[in-house]
Amino acid sequence: MTRDEQPLIGESQSFLEVLDEVSRVAPLDRPVLVVGERGTGKELIAERLHFLSGRWDRPLVKLNCGAISESLLESELFGHEAGAFTDASRSRKGRFELADGGSLFLDELATTSMNIQEKLLRVIEYGQYERLGSSTTRAVDVRLIGATNVDLPGLADAGKFRADLLDRLAFDVITLPPLRQRREDILPLADHFAMRMTRELGRELFAGFSTNARNLLLNHPWPGNIRQLKNVVERAIYRHEDPDQPVSGIQFDPFESPWRPLSDHTQSQTLIGADNQTLPDDLRAHLDDCEKQLVMRALAEHHGNQREAAERLGLSYDQLRGIIKKHKIKARR
Ligand SMILES: Nc1ncnc2c1ncn2[C@@H]1O[C@H](COP(=O)(O)OP(=O)(O)OP(=O)(O)O)[C@@H](O)[C@H]1O
Ligand SMILES: [Mg+2]
Repeated sequence: MTRDEQPLIGESQSFLEVLDEVSRVAPLDRPVLVVGERGTGKELIAERLHFLSGRWDRPLVKLNCGAISESLLESELFGHEAGAFTDASRSRKGRFELADGGSLFLDELATTSMNIQEKLLRVIEYGQYERLGSSTTRAVDVRLIGATNVDLPGLADAGKFRADLLDRLAFDVITLPPLRQRREDILPLADHFAMRMTRELGRELFAGFSTNARNLLLNHPWPGNIRQLKNVVERAIYRHEDPDQPVSGIQFDPFESPWRPLSDHTQSQTLIGADNQTLPDDLRAHLDDCEKQLVMRALAEHHGNQREAAERLGLSYDQLRGIIKKHKIKARR
């Protein structure tokens, strides 16, 4: 996809500050680390860093270090010679070589082994590396953009990430705020994804979200951040049937069903919430969420029988009906 198809939406103070920082650091030929929870837009920011740099017309190569095994990662990064390992029938360029003159985006950096970290340090520091199975030192000119959703200084303190590599990588660190801490961005993003989905479906009109839907979107804690918001909005749009009416059906969890099989894990998450590291910054929304999850669980345990579920929870039947209606829980009558 080109840059034009992926506009960066956001008007909150914290997001605008991030964009300023990106513009400032982009032209510098130094490594940058992009930090943020899952789905906060790290990859989009990495793209912007590349396209605002002097390397914009050179390749931007990407690699997710978390997705492959260590031995494969090494050959992906640095390439290999024929015969370097059993399956290596031909020599192959690594991502550094492919990115020569441009930028290399390394996602999920925290998962790399000490061995790889050592090689990364050398290539950042001296622009030198060897292909696997070769003793010839090669030179390369690549700007590294790293991304992580974990606390790298914490890992370095615990001896699990090289502190010297961290120092080199973190010439500048761009930290993306989670969506729940930039609520002003929720509705502009939701409208953007809604209009894009409407176009994608070949429909003409997006009549906006109902007031209730907007409130639901605004008050959700969004543990999966912008990616989750995008999914929720796209689902709401494609399920919406009457184009003249505002979109009102918001379902946060596609697995939501009274028939959902429950694991211990789902159950223990119920009260803690999806994000158990911070206090909820909207207690009411959080408690509402817990209420909804517990009622769904009771319904599931009682195979959708609302009288039994109400009794189990010490509620009257009408109280339970009220809660089901409030949360738009799909339930048998
Ligand atoms: N500011 C934004 N404006 C519009 N779309 C955005 C914005 N930020 C993120 N997105 C969209 O949200 C989704 C997630 O973004 P991205 O893949 O960059 O996140 P990430 O931080 O790399 O996530 P992960 O940690 O899971 O890899 C993508 O579809 C992206 O296009
Ligand atoms: Mg990513």
